[in-house]
Amino acid sequence: MISISLDYKQVLPFVSEEEISLFEKEAGLHKKNILNKTAKGSDFLGWVHLPEETDEDTLGRLEADAQKIAARSDVVVVIGIGGSYLGPRAVTEALSETFPATGNEHNKQPPEICYAGHHLDEGYHYGLLKYLDNKDYSVIVISKSGTTTEPAIAFRLLRKHLEAKYGVRGAAERTIAITDARRGALKRLAGEQGYTTYDIPDDVGGRYSVLTPAGLLPIAVSGVHIRDLVHGAKTMASHLISNNTLKNNPAATYAVIRNILYRKGKTTEILASYTPSLFYFTEWWKQLFGESEGKDGKGIFPAGVAFTTDLHSLGQYIQDGLKNFFETVIDVEETHRIVHIPSDPENLDGLNYIAGKRLSYVNAMAMKGTLMAHVDGAVPNLKISIPSLNERYLGELIYFFEMACAYSGYILGVNPFDQPGVEAYKRNMFELLGKPGSGS
Ligand code: PA5
Repeated sequence: MISISLDYKQVLPFVSEEEISLFEKEAGLHKKNILNKTAKGSDFLGWVHLPEETDEDTLGRLEADAQKIAARSDVVVVIGIGGSYLGPRAVTEALSETFPATGNEHNKQPPEICYAGHHLDEGYHYGLLKYLDNKDYSVIVISKSGTTTEPAIAFRLLRKHLEAKYGVRGAAERTIAITDARRGALKRLAGEQGYTTYDIPDDVGGRYSVLTPAGLLPIAVSGVHIRDLVHGAKTMASHLISNNTLKNNPAATYAVIRNILYRKGKTTEILASYTPSLFYFTEWWKQLFGESEGKDGKGIFPAGVAFTTDLHSLGQYIQDGLKNFFETVIDVEETHRIVHIPSDPENLDGLNYIAGKRLSYVNAMAMKGTLMAHVDGAVPNLKISIPSLNERYLGELIYFFEMACAYSGYILGVNPFDQPGVEAYKRNMFELLGKPGSGS
């Protein structure tokens, strides 16, 4: 039984139930094509059965390696970009404590996770190398192709730093490479240097790779329980795969509604959450939908906001600006930590009317009030609720969006699994840099 739910009541002033049900047959057809691998991009449908295929041996090996890495490292640097970066960061940041734990120094805390190779900023990488001078650290380098410029440069920098600090052999022992099973420069280097390696399956694209070792190893290192994460995804997969009607398939329903709204001129979707630790989950979602749908001159632009912070910046535009968007809210129903608002005898700030209430109650009222205001302001609103933030529910949510994205791309009429547009900047950059063979 799945635990997350989709509420589209606040879309019904803009889209009727009848309009949604007109997609029943088409959604069924897309599902058949996804399961039978007869749809566009079918070489990249390995993610569909991935949760059920992730066996005990794989999980055990990932957990054992994660423990080994964590035990010898104050810091673990995860190198990667796009799908080889956003998945691990999304889950790690959603499920880790925001502030380092204090008061229990005898229990070893998970290592600090730093990221590299997700951009080309010199100051950032300079600062990271300096920071690592005085830390014991390991490196997880993730690149499916093994040839992407940003992570390749970062790995070259980190490898030199590691070798200077621990020697060539020590550096190799502290490096884990996650890449293609056969091809690419990283695969070759890993073989030569004897790094521990994990494969990213051929039939799983970068933005769908969070439940492969590319996501699971760094996530496990951060102390998150990957078994529960995979279990959550498996629960959602079996629900979506075994239910045939739109009514029982929230991923297909979400995909249908977004496409109806798109056809009515709502060409941007804003994903909103009131939980700051979901910031990178929103970034992951933006990549998933942006890279999957934005092609052939079409596609819903995926934007993200972090409320209530952004109510004091983008809130004005959402309420009163151009009405070419709809909003999808991720509602985390219960928080783990409890903070009550204290009473104050002087009450100069006028807050005594909420004294004794939990902060999460005020946050929930902010969400309710905002949702009502946005619907009044002609913004169609979808709500995806998850009971709380834990591995199981996040696993469900990940698979939900992955499947929804596949349906949505097919309804839009594109191949959701390629990304030809990403090559354009690379071609120009390589020419400008004078890369041999680039045509400069
Ligand atoms: O989703 C994708 O395929 C891309 O975002 C890739 O993940 C990204 O370009 C990084 O590629 P690679 O893992 O080959 O270094």
